[in-house]
Amino acid sequence: MRYFKLITNSLVLFLSFSTVLIAQEPTKVTLSLDKDAPVISKHIYGHFAEHLGRCIYEGFYVGENSTIPNSDGVRKDIINALKELNIPNLRWPGGCFADTYHWMDGIGPKEDRPTIVNTWWGGVTEDNSFGTHNFLNLCEELGAEPYLSGNVGSGGVQELADWVQYTNFKGKSPMSDLRRENGREEPWTVKYWGIGNEAWGCGGNMRAEYYADIYRKYATFMSGADVEGGIYKIASGASDDDYHWTEVLMKNIPKSMLQGVALHHYTVIDWSNKGPDIDFDEETYFRSMQESWLMDELITKHVAVMDKYDEKKEVDLIVDEWGGWYDVEEGTNPGFLYQQNTMRDAMIAGMNLNIFNNHADRVKMANLAQAVNVLQAVILTDEEKMILTPTYHVMNMYKVHQDATLIPLSFNSPEYTFKDESLPALNISASVDKNNKTHLSMTNIDSKKEHVVTIDVNELKIKNVSGEILSSDSLQDHNSFNEPNKITPKNFKDFKFKKGVLEVAIPPFSVIVLEAQ
Ligand code: AHR
Repeated sequence: MRYFKLITNSLVLFLSFSTVLIAQEPTKVTLSLDKDAPVISKHIYGHFAEHLGRCIYEGFYVGENSTIPNSDGVRKDIINALKELNIPNLRWPGGCFADTYHWMDGIGPKEDRPTIVNTWWGGVTEDNSFGTHNFLNLCEELGAEPYLSGNVGSGGVQELADWVQYTNFKGKSPMSDLRRENGREEPWTVKYWGIGNEAWGCGGNMRAEYYADIYRKYATFMSGADVEGGIYKIASGASDDDYHWTEVLMKNIPKSMLQGVALHHYTVIDWSNKGPDIDFDEETYFRSMQESWLMDELITKHVAVMDKYDEKKEVDLIVDEWGGWYDVEEGTNPGFLYQQNTMRDAMIAGMNLNIFNNHADRVKMANLAQAVNVLQAVILTDEEKMILTPTYHVMNMYKVHQDATLIPLSFNSPEYTFKDESLPALNISASVDKNNKTHLSMTNIDSKKEHVVTIDVNELKIKNVSGEILSSDSLQDHNSFNEPNKITPKNFKDFKFKKGVLEVAIPPFSVIVLEAQ
């Protein structure tokens, strides 16, 4: 009996020891160097600026007479920071605001411009001092493509057709003459146009069937003649898992009229109790990660619907609003959606960008909500001060994927477990750029455990590997106006490269980008 007990005890010991060993076994990542892999459109790294809270006013735009250094009223520090990101496109003027915006209010002498009430966001007075010229000139300075959201909800077909002519027509016409009167000779040639925003909600509370017809009517009168290849029209898309919406649009709008269908999905744990931006607990963090991971499932299922009607993938999926959404920072206007940005946001950014990269065959554009002072911002300002958030740093590290060719990969992720639930701890994407440099971006969302991966890169004939990491001591860490550089990317060396195999130890809640050539 004693002998049997000894054997059982040793067996238990052996089993638990081997479990530990198995748990520490590195995760094998397999790259498939597929010649037909898609290019990761640079537009996946797009941004969004709405007339909401302090995004435009007190954010981008401080006015021509401000003591803050500016270029035509737009802060130079913001322009430089966004240029550094290689910002590919900027969506404007909303969001919900777009369906209340009449573009003609924002042109001509500033003193003559009418004021309106921003009914969606805080009920503040909008003086229209930042308008079409300011926005399109800003995009030119940034080297970014403008993406204009047209007013369908409270606007009209003629109004939107006129906006297209005002911005794009080279010859003589009522709208191009007006543009010249307002100081701009050459058209800006705007390619990307949204036809309404969230038409199922703030854009007019329409049914999908009704919106599909309205879309066709608007699209008919928007002339694409002045843009090489025509203008690129984007339909207001589904919220989260509304697959019916995507189905109705794909079924009822001719492909010749439709270049992109949008999708909005925010990382929000509960719309009536979104939780704090900084002082969140582990359960809230886990729920945020669950919501963030949902993006992968949503894209997969919306794409499956699109595939039914468009197997050649001629219509793109455009995730033109995504990001973390929490309760506003204490003491700030609830209608202004101002929130801080922690390592949780770095995880959301790292994960979503990997998801978009890995769906690059259908996802051709995405816009983080929003660029400055609103929701998951890359930049926060306080009067003359400006800080870059952890999300900014992730975007900057990942920019190497812009217009690079995807390297599809597969692996079985270890799990991040909280109580009796679990999620994949790792998400990874890889690409090879025009200079033959391979980049691997890896995010470990596990709040406690490091995870080790091995990647056989023999086929890539790599000689040198270098890396950067974004990590911090606690998930709640963030950059503040007092400590603006608490979280910045650091040189990363915790990898081995032997016989063509990379072994990388990814610390808990960290983002790593490796460059191999
Ligand atoms: O980004 C904030 C708001 O979220 C946008 O205005 C709207 O489109 C969405 O509901």
